[in-house]
Amino acid sequence: MSLKKFVAAAAGVTIALSLAACSGGGAGATDDTSSSDTSSSSDSGSMEGGLIGVAMPTQTSSRWIADGNAVKSGLEDLGYSVDLQYANNDIPTQQQQIDGMISKGAEALIIAAIDGTTLSGQLQTAADKGIPIISYDRLIRDSENVDFYVTFDNFKVGVQQATSLLVGLGILNEDGSEGDATGPFNIELFAGSLDDNNAFFFFNGAMSILQPLIDDGTLVVKSGQTKIEQVNILRWEQETAQKRMEDLLTSTYSDGSKVQGVLSPYDGLSRGIITALQNAGYPATISEGFPVVTGQDAEIESVKFIADDVQFSTIFKDTRLLADQAVTVAQAYLNGETPEANDTETYDNGVKVVPSYLLESTIIYADNIQSQLVDTGYWTADEVASGIAAG
Ligand code: BGC
Repeated sequence: MSLKKFVAAAAGVTIALSLAACSGGGAGATDDTSSSDTSSSSDSGSMEGGLIGVAMPTQTSSRWIADGNAVKSGLEDLGYSVDLQYANNDIPTQQQQIDGMISKGAEALIIAAIDGTTLSGQLQTAADKGIPIISYDRLIRDSENVDFYVTFDNFKVGVQQATSLLVGLGILNEDGSEGDATGPFNIELFAGSLDDNNAFFFFNGAMSILQPLIDDGTLVVKSGQTKIEQVNILRWEQETAQKRMEDLLTSTYSDGSKVQGVLSPYDGLSRGIITALQNAGYPATISEGFPVVTGQDAEIESVKFIADDVQFSTIFKDTRLLADQAVTVAQAYLNGETPEANDTETYDNGVKVVPSYLLESTIIYADNIQSQLVDTGYWTADEVASGIAAG
């Protein structure tokens, strides 16, 4: 390891440890002011800090609840007041919420967009008032008024998803060495919502690994649907993914053939896909022949599925670290400083390349749930056993 990498790794450990030490709870920890669906304004911060608006897409996914809670408590710990809003995946609602934050006098905005192209009007109003705008996890597109982007290395997330699919099929071992299986294997592909810039990064990352194996016949996409335009799921909806999987089983696998693996880019989609496969009579567990299904976000329901040998893998993106980064960036702006970016090339939003801070993600398999998710305080052992977030 180079000195630079070592220093970066050591810094990462320090951040993780200090977060674990001082954060009040893991992903499941809730905050009473943020539990109602569309609004959770809290003015309980100290007198000194200003108001910061935090716009999140939906509470139907435990991932975004964890993000909202972590950002809110991080800001409040620094003395800011927080207006945290969830928009039920409805674009006009999110636009109104951001308008509301601006008129309430927000001094900075942290936004995880539903549709990354629909906020230009709000952002222009904010920019005219000098309010810094931080794009949270999802890149806001087509606007020059995006000051900073905090996210994970999204291409690498896709690479990890595809890698875990290969591990599940036995083509690779977890340590990256070659596995015993040679295929051919029937697989199907799913992608996220096309209005979310991340969906392309995940899919392209995954296909960078899968395409060569599709080309040499190791993997067979039996439906023939290999383009993101064919496999995307609008708004990342679980029910839509279930429906598409049901349709694929009818159209492509009624001849007695079996699907052996499914690339799924998000745990909610994975659960829809798993329901379709269960209803179609596939065996109960992966060891007994249930298909290998991937995921993302380490949502508690899916972590339980992984522990129970139903879902094969997920990608853990520590929302505590992302929230901490968003808080650091907001504070830098409010102190008149320039936040530190570690990527100034990758994320072109159509108008400009947005300075970004990218975090690292981890593949979760049944055998590292304990070390990655329980020992770090993200989920408790009880939550994993029940599949339900406490609180
Ligand atoms: C996030 C993923 C999440 C997906 C669906 C993406 O923008 O990066 O973590 O799975 O949205 O909510």
